[in-house]
Amino acid sequence: MCGIIGCVGRGDDTLDTLLDGLDTLEYRGYDSAGVALANGSVQTAKKAGELDALREHLADRSPSGTVGIGHTRWSTHGPPTDANAHPHCDCTGEVAVVHNGIIENYQTLRDELATDHEFVSDTDTEVIPHLIEDALADHSPEAAVRATLDRLEGSFAIAVVIAGTDAIFAARQDSPLVLGIDDDATYLASDVPAFRVHTDRVVYLDDGQFVRLDADGYTVTDFDGTPRSPSVETVDWDPEATGKAGYDHFMLKEIHEQPRALRQCLQGRVDELAGDVTLDIDPDIDRVQFVACGTSYHAALYGAALFRAAGVPAQAFLAHEYAIQTPPVEDDLVVAVSQSGETADTLAAIREADRRGADTLALTNVVGSTMARECTDALFIRSGPEIGVAASKTFSAQLTAVNLLALATVGAGDEDVRDLIGALRDLPADIQTILDASGAREVAREYVDSESFFFIGRGYHHPVALEGALKLKEISYTHAEGFAAGELKHGTLALVTPDTPVFAVVTGDGEAARKTIGNVKEVEARGAPVIAVTDGESDVERYADAVLEIPSTHARTAAVLANVQLQLVAYHVANELGRSIDKPRNLAKSVTVE
Ligand code: F6R
Repeated sequence: MCGIIGCVGRGDDTLDTLLDGLDTLEYRGYDSAGVALANGSVQTAKKAGELDALREHLADRSPSGTVGIGHTRWSTHGPPTDANAHPHCDCTGEVAVVHNGIIENYQTLRDELATDHEFVSDTDTEVIPHLIEDALADHSPEAAVRATLDRLEGSFAIAVVIAGTDAIFAARQDSPLVLGIDDDATYLASDVPAFRVHTDRVVYLDDGQFVRLDADGYTVTDFDGTPRSPSVETVDWDPEATGKAGYDHFMLKEIHEQPRALRQCLQGRVDELAGDVTLDIDPDIDRVQFVACGTSYHAALYGAALFRAAGVPAQAFLAHEYAIQTPPVEDDLVVAVSQSGETADTLAAIREADRRGADTLALTNVVGSTMARECTDALFIRSGPEIGVAASKTFSAQLTAVNLLALATVGAGDEDVRDLIGALRDLPADIQTILDASGAREVAREYVDSESFFFIGRGYHHPVALEGALKLKEISYTHAEGFAAGELKHGTLALVTPDTPVFAVVTGDGEAARKTIGNVKEVEARGAPVIAVTDGESDVERYADAVLEIPSTHARTAAVLANVQLQLVAYHVANELGRSIDKPRNLAKSVTVE
């Protein structure tokens, strides 16, 4: 986890460039933040808490230098304190390091260094500057960093500044690192938004690569010094895409961006007249395994159901359970669903699948992400940057993209393909209808003080129920659970009381709706308020205390629409409670540790 940034060549702007970059990286962690600037000497400033605490701390001092690195932390080793904040320095204070990842052999290294070096933090990272300090005794700065890399085991993206050297040395092993290239300055960061305002030219580093950044250029080599020439790519989204555009929170902005995100996801991929979906990938599919975590896992559950409906055996696995369950993969396609394309658990699952000879497909938002590059193929959901820690537009785009994947590869089973394509095409407008007239805010106000919330849905609405609960608890810190509608009566009904609102997703008027209404009656009989999320085709409203309407659509796309209402409920409950919506406590957007 954590976000790192570096820049060379910004002159007097170095500190501001770092702080503005860290602002866009806070979604990766916000337990503490820090910077180090170097010219003749290295000056470091760091502070526990969000970036504002660092800005305040910097108000009466302003480190200067033409070379700088910065960090925003999500704690793995040691609590969020000033001492554990990055950058970490050696004993002389002439070497400063920022790090994202985990140094697995840090205890051995620390024991070895302890006789000659004083450690001031609990972090794994702190061994790195001390190793560099030792190596500087008989190496040049660049060679000292390389020699240190040889000693490190685990995952890392690191950036190093050394007093007297107008360069940044950086390396990547299992944690993301991307370079930004401009004519008179160079940048590095965990993610492109950190420097996008300065340049749209980027270089994605691979694992095992080392880079030296100077004001007028960069050199990339393998750790052993073998020269590499990774291509320079151009990002196709504007810097404004990472601002709040007048919304109070990134999450609200991103919820409202869904019509555009889905239009982008569908663009050039569906031909309604021909009843055709064309993707620029063509995987062989006998059986499908999905691997994912969190919200993306809910999209994976939905995706697996689509493939099963087309007669193709398909299963969704929590990525961190995948290796333990040792599922067979011969001839399977393993699809990694991941917004970031960097989630360590999902990457590990993909690597396991690869070891067993499966073809892998990354269904991700981030072009250039590790997953996109490591998998056999990639299908991009094209949502644009998502900054709010809670996934919103990218979940809707994942559901849309997985529909496209199923249609393009295995069809739609008994469903009419043209109907389904039409419903997908209508999604942006249908979502807009919800956004323009949602009653979610009133519902949130009515029930905000409840003790617990339950969400139920059947079939394609089961993942929606799980996602509704996850979103609510994640940003409001209120207990919530999602269930397949029929499951509630097998135990959890014992918790249902007049103080536990139940959100029931009921669409259409078929068997699934009828049975879910039966489950609604069960909770209503226990006095629980029922909020129906419905297209109005059944009579669920008769049993509901409140209704959140969605336009009538296909059974599959109804799941996307129902979820939008639940996103808004979660947002408004959290807002009523004054929570930190874009940066919920204890969480980070990109979970790059297992
Ligand atoms: C919840 C959320 C997380 C992520 C999960 C996987 O709102 O965003 O549950 O879905 O950490 O992240 P990605 O999709 O980047 O692999």
